[in-house]
Amino acid sequence: MSKKLLLKNAHIEGIRYFETYRKHGGYEAAEKALKMTTDEVLEEVKVSGLRGRGGAGFPTGMKWSFLAKPEGVPRHLVVNADESEPGTFKDRYLMEFLPHLLIEGMLISSYCLGSNTSYIYIRGEYSWIPDILEEAIEEAKAAGFLGKNILGTGYDLEIYVQRGAGAYICGEETALLESLEGRRGNPRLKPPFPAVKGLWERPTVVNNVESIAAVVPIIEIGGAEYAKIGIGRSTGTKLISACGNINKPGVYEIDMTITVEEFIYSDEYCGGIPNGKKLKACIPGGSSVPIVPANLLLKTINGEPRYMNYESLADGGFATGTMMGSGGFIVLDEDQCVVNHTMTLARFYNHESCGQCTPCREGTGWMYKILKKIEKGEGKMEDIDLLWDIQRKIEGNTICPLGDAAAWPVAAAIRHFRDEFEWHVNNPELCQTQNYGIANY
Ligand code: NAI
Ligand code: SF4
Repeated sequence: MSKKLLLKNAHIEGIRYFETYRKHGGYEAAEKALKMTTDEVLEEVKVSGLRGRGGAGFPTGMKWSFLAKPEGVPRHLVVNADESEPGTFKDRYLMEFLPHLLIEGMLISSYCLGSNTSYIYIRGEYSWIPDILEEAIEEAKAAGFLGKNILGTGYDLEIYVQRGAGAYICGEETALLESLEGRRGNPRLKPPFPAVKGLWERPTVVNNVESIAAVVPIIEIGGAEYAKIGIGRSTGTKLISACGNINKPGVYEIDMTITVEEFIYSDEYCGGIPNGKKLKACIPGGSSVPIVPANLLLKTINGEPRYMNYESLADGGFATGTMMGSGGFIVLDEDQCVVNHTMTLARFYNHESCGQCTPCREGTGWMYKILKKIEKGEGKMEDIDLLWDIQRKIEGNTICPLGDAAAWPVAAAIRHFRDEFEWHVNNPELCQTQNYGIANY
């Protein structure tokens, strides 16, 4: 059984409200942190080994230590709640059921970073959650945990919730900052990183909801204890949102020592695949990370079991491995068609491209058009090579990672499932009535 740090109280009725949250130990970590120096809090986060839970896995303590501190310039914490990666819905769960965990994490983090005004930028489609967050902010303020002179320490903090307007690209941190400043969400060139020049050109830390919530147990049990959970550089616990062809879709907290096989088949997690179907493939970290076929998903190239953590999922690099990403775990059974699936993703990335750079703006459109042609049985063999060529020209040649995110799923699908693409080319008449999965398994 995995250790629970974030969701340990999620089952308690009324935990969304301050009174119940407080009764179960809520805000005790914040009280503890406010008695520590900001350097001591930073040290705990560094020692914990916490890595960014939004997808990139960048060490949180290191990011915080990069924050520039010029004299007289305000600094900000911005929580990235623009969770839009297909297959990813863990932050929604945290904000909906444990809003005070996020607020408490923000209080500790803002104090450490020296932010007196912090923001939550939330995905527009999560239309009911801002009310929950704003109610929690009001409750925390009424109890003296936000506002002026918090707990008599002299530290002030205001938190504001800003709703997005439904653009995936606003989850990219610099596009998010543009949007927060009231402009179109076009990503900025990095460097400078937000830690140096962020919101209104002020030093800013942008962190994912889960990363900030994790700061609460880190302070509660101490960074060193937190680092003992998990394995290697995959410390602490990780929320996984599981969906697709599984018996028990939902949000699970894992301690990153379990195997992928255990996660898919054990009753504690996904509970196996419906109707006894075979596992075909999985995308373990949200739609942007490479798809992996079952044989490489359950074992690494060296025959070792593949574990649900940053290192093991990436084992073998992009050629054979994948990424932990945001933890959006999508399972495909034997009946699913990879070409159809890849086409759906290509349409998504083409629609969400902000259009600033040519390889992404044009390339995502061409990938979608070619995939649509192949999927309908109207493709030629050379279209598969053309598709490969286009994705190669996007990867690494764009301002933000949306270009890479659009290219990787296509590259991995061709690399691992070229036979399915060829089947579509060779069986145009069957493409109208059935898909590769149903025809071949
Ligand atoms: P990144 O690797 O460019 O940056 C990670 C973080 O580290 C950023 O906050 C960046 O500012 C900071 N950083 C890196 N080097 C730095 C330096 N030298 N100095 C100061 N700060 C530095 O990755 P990015 O663009 O933040 O995230 C991409 C990931 O986001 C992808 O892996 C994807 O899986 C994920 N993603 C998640 C979504 C979700 O809904 N959760 C949506 C879309 C993408
Ligand atoms: Fe916009 Fe795509 Fe370029 Fe990112 S990669 S800046 S989404 S055009």
